Amino acid sequence: MPHLLSLIREDVATVLERDPAAKSRLEIYLCYSGLHAVWFYRMNHWLWNHGFLLLARWLSQVARWLTGIEIHPGAHIGRRLFIDHGMGVVIGETAIVGEDVTLYQGVTLGGTGKEHGKRHPTLLNNVVVGGGAKILGNITVGSNCRIGAGSVVLRNVPEHSTVVGVPGHIIFRNGERVVITDPKQINDPLSEALAAVATEVNKLRERVQKLEGPEAFREPLSASLQRIMENIDYQI
Ligand SMILES: CC(C)(COP(=O)(O)OP(=O)(O)OC[C@H]1O[C@@H](n2cnc3c(N)ncnc32)[C@H](O)[C@@H]1OP(=O)(O)O)[C@@H](O)C(=O)NCCC(=O)NCCS
Repeated sequence: MPHLLSLIREDVATVLERDPAAKSRLEIYLCYSGLHAVWFYRMNHWLWNHGFLLLARWLSQVARWLTGIEIHPGAHIGRRLFIDHGMGVVIGETAIVGEDVTLYQGVTLGGTGKEHGKRHPTLLNNVVVGGGAKILGNITVGSNCRIGAGSVVLRNVPEHSTVVGVPGHIIFRNGERVVITDPKQINDPLSEALAAVATEVNKLRERVQKLEGPEAFREPLSASLQRIMENIDYQI
């Protein structure tokens, strides 16, 4: 592990850059359990790759006991991973984490329990995963994505997207708001009911159009929904 010390220095600099609460390097060395877990991981990953599988697993359990963060030594983790707060983070054996990724507390990069082989997610560079989010299965989250707190992500996410919800769906892509006009895109148990309502609304629009003529609606349903979403004032 020739670069371990330089990696540690880089990790500390990363925290100073990304966490406005960090006051000094000494505080970071002493108080950031997310970093302690990553440093343990780097040693354990080396042991894992050199055939010391049980020792690596055992030390990863020691690290979990000390930090509350469980990183499987077989996972592949890029540089400058910042796990903020950390408690409850789980990173599975076949997970791949790119560079400059930030994970908050309670994040799981886990399996669905149905897959074999590569069964954990791949996060590309610059991904931020909010507190409590679960990213499950052999899926890929593209670079520069943000995953909302509490989301459950089960499908691939294209780069530069923001995902929220259970199951997760894209709300921003390349800086533009994404409005879901087909409820099936959300793919949750309520989507059938929403799809039925959308079909009914379409039928009613057609009837109104027959009664009032083609001028009754100047825009298709999807455009109306887009406009309504943009105009809603959510302040309560
Ligand atoms: C997902 C996230 C990155 C979006 O941030 P943003 O780009 O500023 O987006 P906004 O706050 O404008 O929210 C956009 C919409 O998504 C909704 N939304 C935001 N976060 C959400 C979440 N976690 N779950 C569900 N919906 C969410 C908002 O209500 C809003 O809906 P609306 O436009 O219909 O009103 C952010 O809300 C988030 O969850 N960050 C994680 C932070 C975290 O975990 N911090 C832990 C610190 S200890």
